[in-house]
Amino acid sequence: MMSMSRWALDTVAERYITFVHSARSPRDIIYRKELEAMAANHSNFHLGLTMTRQTTGDPWWGFQGRLNEVLLPAICPDYKDRVIYVCGPDSFMKGVKKLVEELGFPMENYNQESFGSPKKKRPPSSQEKNDNSSVVAPNNNITKNNHVATPKPVTAPSNDTSYPVVFAESGKEVLCNEQMSLLDLAEEEMIEVESSCRSGGCGSCKVKKLEVDIRYEGDPDGLDESDAEEGYILACIAHPQGKVIIDA
Ligand code: FES
Repeated sequence: MMSMSRWALDTVAERYITFVHSARSPRDIIYRKELEAMAANHSNFHLGLTMTRQTTGDPWWGFQGRLNEVLLPAICPDYKDRVIYVCGPDSFMKGVKKLVEELGFPMENYNQESFGSPKKKRPPSSQEKNDNSSVVAPNNNITKNNHVATPKPVTAPSNDTSYPVVFAESGKEVLCNEQMSLLDLAEEEMIEVESSCRSGGCGSCKVKKLEVDIRYEGDPDGLDESDAEEGYILACIAHPQGKVIIDA
């Protein structure tokens, strides 16, 4: 969306753009300064920001709440005469698509773009690994009386370790394989954690740690210094290395 908007403004294309950004809180607005500058400098670029959570110490006087049948026309009254492009987490895109469909938007003018890497497959548990790596040694299973003895599986050693992960708000405690990210675990347990890029870049999946022993798989670029100081971690690239308690 940003590159399309930059292109339209840089080439002085005759486009009237309403850029709607739904963020969790003001600190989560991506490209905030650039977007505000674009809106200030171009009369054909209108910015509609809405925050989905009330936060203390981070005041916001603009639109509040998720996009709905009231908010969308308030931000862009003539949206039915526009072409809509949507980008974001799957759940967000599904919600917007359903909303505009129900509002009677001409869907031939609706476009959406997947954002982020696909969800990783859950790594097999030690038990599943052992099941797959079992081999039966030949001949040892024939006894003196030609009875067939139960074959003893020879299993390959496993280095995987699981650690307890507590989702404090949901009141759930589950074991998590160290190869699995906390985001994948949360999704498997049907615990809501927002996400987009799934690679540490956007900050959507940040959750507050209460007790945490993790390693990151990748750089936590989506966290700024104050997030880290306040105890946030990025669930999409965080893997347990000991007991973990998070506020989710
Ligand atoms: S989903 Fe983007 S940083 Fe985790």
